Amino acid sequence: MPFPQTRLRRLRATGALRGLVRETSLSASDFVYPMFVAHGIDRREPIEAMPAIDRLSIAHAVDEAKQAAELGIPAVLLFGLPAAKDEEGSGAWDDEGIVQLATRAIKEANPELIVITDLCLCEYTSHGHCGVIRSDGSVDNDATLDLLARTAVSQARAGADVIAPSDMMDGRVGALRQALDDDGRVDTPILAYSAKFASAFYGPFREAADSAPAFGDRRGYQMDPGNGDEAVRETRLDVEEGADIVMVKPALPYLDLIHRIKADTQMPLAAYNVSGEYAMVKAAATAGYLDERATVLEALTCIRRAGADIVITYHAKEAARWLQ
Ligand code: PBG
Repeated sequence: MPFPQTRLRRLRATGALRGLVRETSLSASDFVYPMFVAHGIDRREPIEAMPAIDRLSIAHAVDEAKQAAELGIPAVLLFGLPAAKDEEGSGAWDDEGIVQLATRAIKEANPELIVITDLCLCEYTSHGHCGVIRSDGSVDNDATLDLLARTAVSQARAGADVIAPSDMMDGRVGALRQALDDDGRVDTPILAYSAKFASAFYGPFREAADSAPAFGDRRGYQMDPGNGDEAVRETRLDVEEGADIVMVKPALPYLDLIHRIKADTQMPLAAYNVSGEYAMVKAAATAGYLDERATVLEALTCIRRAGADIVITYHAKEAARWLQ
């Protein structure tokens, strides 16, 4: 055979060589499992567009976190569903708020598991925006920074190992770093949602968190899906302000940016395979149009190949089982 590639075929087909020449690895240790925590006793409430993902009261969240840890998943990412919402989003920085309570309970039961807390106001505000609203309906960036800083300190005090701001206000990484340092939490890292796009793929999440904006949209502060250079610039700013890990979100439609941002920043990089990406695969698999296992493992491998060190995915537990 004149084609050198062909020499590898037989060995690759037997399996053993495939592993040896494979460039990209995928394992449970790459995953972060996102969870929705809610008030209540013995509550486990399905989310329609996200089969197998539920809103969990604290005891159930502790169980789920333990299962994730047993599957070799090193970290969970917590989203809080407060009992009540208000104009400012005060549930976010309440020391007895839902994320704070869940963080304490999960850390107590699983001290080795890393708890990452999502930091945003949109799950807590009555209007569903990620910050303070001015009289003209726009978001007041700088006033929001103080509330985010209070929330970060409250989450860190509750035991969060990593703080993950997803609000997309300008200057928030610097403001959080300062507030955490002032509280003596110089060792608490920040995972910044740096290149977070104004995406239709967050639809199922907003149903889960009841956080769709009551008016307008998030295009003022989230990024335009058409803008790649801007995403690189925004991420550089987060790194300058002190981000320890950067993120690209969503993942699959933005693989080019995972690649570019990894090359540009040389920082640890997380990619968020978001709710809509999960819902698409689940829907197609349920209809019998796709083989879920093969599709998910391929997609997650490709997110890693593009340059992600960390993959945040609602498929984490299922994928970890498939990889065993
Ligand atoms: C909060 C936040 C959102 C997501 C993560 N953090 C929603 C949004 O910005 O509207 C989306 C995650 C997902 O879709 O899985 N700002």
